[in-house]
Amino acid sequence: MHSPAPLRLALVGAGRVAMAHLAAADRHPELVEFVACADPSTAVRTSLAETHPGVAWYPDVESLLAGGERVELAVVATPHAAHLGQIVALARAGIAMLVEKPVVLTAAQAREALAAVEESGVTLVAGQTRRFARDVEQAAMDVAAGDLGPLNAFAGVSLQNLLAYTGGAASWFMDGAIAGGGSVISHGIHIIDVIRFVSGEDVVLADAQASTGPPMFNGADSDTAATLQLAGGAVGTLLTSYRTSPDAQRATIDLFFDDARLWSDSRLDDGRMHLDRGGASAAIVDGDLPDPFETQLIHTVDRIRGNAPERSSLRQNFNTLATIDAIARSAATGRRQPVEER
Ligand SMILES: NC(=O)c1ccc[n+]([C@@H]2O[C@H](COP(=O)([O-])OP(=O)(O)OC[C@H]3O[C@@H](n4cnc5c(N)ncnc54)[C@H](O)[C@@H]3O)[C@@H](O)[C@H]2O)c1
Repeated sequence: MHSPAPLRLALVGAGRVAMAHLAAADRHPELVEFVACADPSTAVRTSLAETHPGVAWYPDVESLLAGGERVELAVVATPHAAHLGQIVALARAGIAMLVEKPVVLTAAQAREALAAVEESGVTLVAGQTRRFARDVEQAAMDVAAGDLGPLNAFAGVSLQNLLAYTGGAASWFMDGAIAGGGSVISHGIHIIDVIRFVSGEDVVLADAQASTGPPMFNGADSDTAATLQLAGGAVGTLLTSYRTSPDAQRATIDLFFDDARLWSDSRLDDGRMHLDRGGASAAIVDGDLPDPFETQLIHTVDRIRGNAPERSSLRQNFNTLATIDAIARSAATGRRQPVEER
């Protein structure tokens, strides 16, 4: 059978996480051909010239588009505040996108991005990487099959030490004006999105308290405690921190059903999902798990070619972004907030 030519791939932002996307792309030359990069950093330019000679380099997405470079898929992995403008520019140029989380900063921005993407008809996959982990996918399938009983309650915890992550250096992740927030938007987002994806339900209400302390600034939350309610009535908690002690870094998710508990703990068994039921506890998927960045890339190419159902579209991502928005509004006003509907 004739296989289609690989899609011409550009990286927009080629920092830390882009390297995980690039490693996945390098493993799939039959799907994508890395042809261009837009990033203002000369260090990035120099290192790419060594590992991927021949790839065209531009300082920003505007010059990439103006340069007439033929690109069919862009992986957007830039600081958060840059995402919306880049999405709109790429959509207008008819280029499909895989956009890192958070796709944009607010529910209002999500509507703007959705309008641009739907007007142009391009594919946008929200880079909520955990949706593409095999165990998380299996958990969602088990819940959808309906044999765990109704979901009653949940708890998510996401604790990181940002200074340990940056090696003590200053970073745009600390700046609320660029990151759009702090611990919730930058890493708590994974927990919110996994709870939604596995439960199959949207968040409808948020009630939160937040604090901001070093190294965060410009209003970025260092720590947030929220209670959330899902559309089906289940209630739960979310605790996030960017200044937990390095030894205490951890991410956990618990979903409590009538007949079972689904859980994951980043410190146990590769952080994979487990099912406790009838006195027994077992990982829900055995063996090696594929790299979710790779599964995500394969899905994105399949979506562009019309070969896969939606799994992380911008419409599906809207409630995750609107929940973060509601958490921030609640923390700022001291009042419970409804999560905006699309
Ligand atoms: N999916 C995941 O598990 C995961 C993990 C870490 C980070 N992320 C997300 O990936 C994105 C990037 O994070 P990172 O850790 O790689 O950050 P980073 O700071 O390491 O990299 C960002 C890159 O973007 C470049 N850049 C800055 N402004 C730009 C612009 N206007 N146009 C083009 N390039 C620009 C910078 O020079 C840098 O090379 C963020 O959205 C972040 O939340 C996702």
